[in-house]
Amino acid sequence: MTATPHFPIRDGILHAEDIPLPELADRHGTPLYVYSRAALHEAWHRYEHAIAGRNALVCYGVKANSNLAVLHEFQRLGAGFDIVSGGELARVLAAGANPNRVVFSGVGKQGWELRQALTAGIKCFNVESAAELERLADIAQEMGVRAPVSLRVNPDVDAKTHPYISTGLKENKFGVDIREAPSLYRQARQHPGLEIVGVDCHIGSQITQISPYLDALDKLLDLIDALAADGITLRHLDLGGGLGIRYTDETPPDPAELLNPVFAALHQRGLHYLQVILEPGRSLVGNAGILLTRVEYLKCTEARNFAIVDAAMNDLMRPALYEAWHGVVPVQPRAGIPQETYDIVGPICESGDWLARDRKLPLEQGDLLAIQSAGAYGFSMASHYNTRPCAAEVLVDGQNAWVIRPRESIQELFAQERIPKTADGR
Ligand code: LLP
Repeated sequence: MTATPHFPIRDGILHAEDIPLPELADRHGTPLYVYSRAALHEAWHRYEHAIAGRNALVCYGVKANSNLAVLHEFQRLGAGFDIVSGGELARVLAAGANPNRVVFSGVGKQGWELRQALTAGIKCFNVESAAELERLADIAQEMGVRAPVSLRVNPDVDAKTHPYISTGLKENKFGVDIREAPSLYRQARQHPGLEIVGVDCHIGSQITQISPYLDALDKLLDLIDALAADGITLRHLDLGGGLGIRYTDETPPDPAELLNPVFAALHQRGLHYLQVILEPGRSLVGNAGILLTRVEYLKCTEARNFAIVDAAMNDLMRPALYEAWHGVVPVQPRAGIPQETYDIVGPICESGDWLARDRKLPLEQGDLLAIQSAGAYGFSMASHYNTRPCAAEVLVDGQNAWVIRPRESIQELFAQERIPKTADGR
């Protein structure tokens, strides 16, 4: 990818909306996450358009980018939220979310998290095992409430994506075997602490075809029929997240291309009364963000040329973890500089600390680079490895840029650490 509509090139300089990126780098330093508000809105509107006039709810998958400002944007646009921890619940509430638009996924929900979510009054618990169902039922009963539940079923379909982000195969840890779901639903029906409200699945991430979703849908609809025959009726069907984005040359389907056949199938099976829930993360934020970084050194060896930049795997972990490909574009390409093939690497002491490989770029020390498609699973997966402060984050709206998370100070990184007093007083 080169320029994109919300990160255009004007007068030879890459911008975020109307702001030249070098200006942001001067003002806020690098590495810097830069998000486009218009891009967030545009991605949202694609979903909004796809569900217009339907009984459907889009619950933003918070883990993709959980900055409060991003959550607040989606909350104002009408999104619900898909959370996977008590921490994420606290975040969405702090961003103003309505708890009855919040669904709670995840295989390892702890007792305190279940209590916290029951107290908040969330829309649904996406329960992932028999043991979790039992724990939730007991806690709800003890609190004198009924927990709204869906079972997250594992439909055993291949999402045809990276194995680390594929979740709907039977060898994955996620969900309950769809064949065991009817008996679990029957158990749930008996329990005074539970209220059955739906069924859920999430088959993976960065999915670029519709067919895996429709395969999963078919299996879910069969399950819904079987449950109805047992007198168990549901209110909603949650198909999870997972729609992909373009990192390089992918052509992922639009939300409407996914949802139209889903609504058609529900209609055909007489299930039009079911609310459809989706949990998109990446497709709402991925291409709304870049990671701005500066070339510290060029190091040309016999084997390879390295551009050592000030961002690293602690800022953007996807290449190290999944060998993920992100576009890299010079912010202000200078004429007369020869193109060389570089590996773009960070300063961390690991060979796995690379952001891109084999990129033909005209580079000089001090140049700025934009790592593209970094809005999803970028900052949210960042760490402090090598005692590196997290990058700052800014949200651009036209000519305005808001700092939505300032750069951390070094002192903050170890402020919570304590040196114990030893017996000999040293
Ligand atoms: N719902 C559930 C239950 C999930 O587990 C996920 C993502 C989503 C929704 C949102 O999926 P999305 O629409 O963003 O694909 N760190 C990886 C991606 C991991 C996705 C985990 N689950 C990456 O950087 O590619």
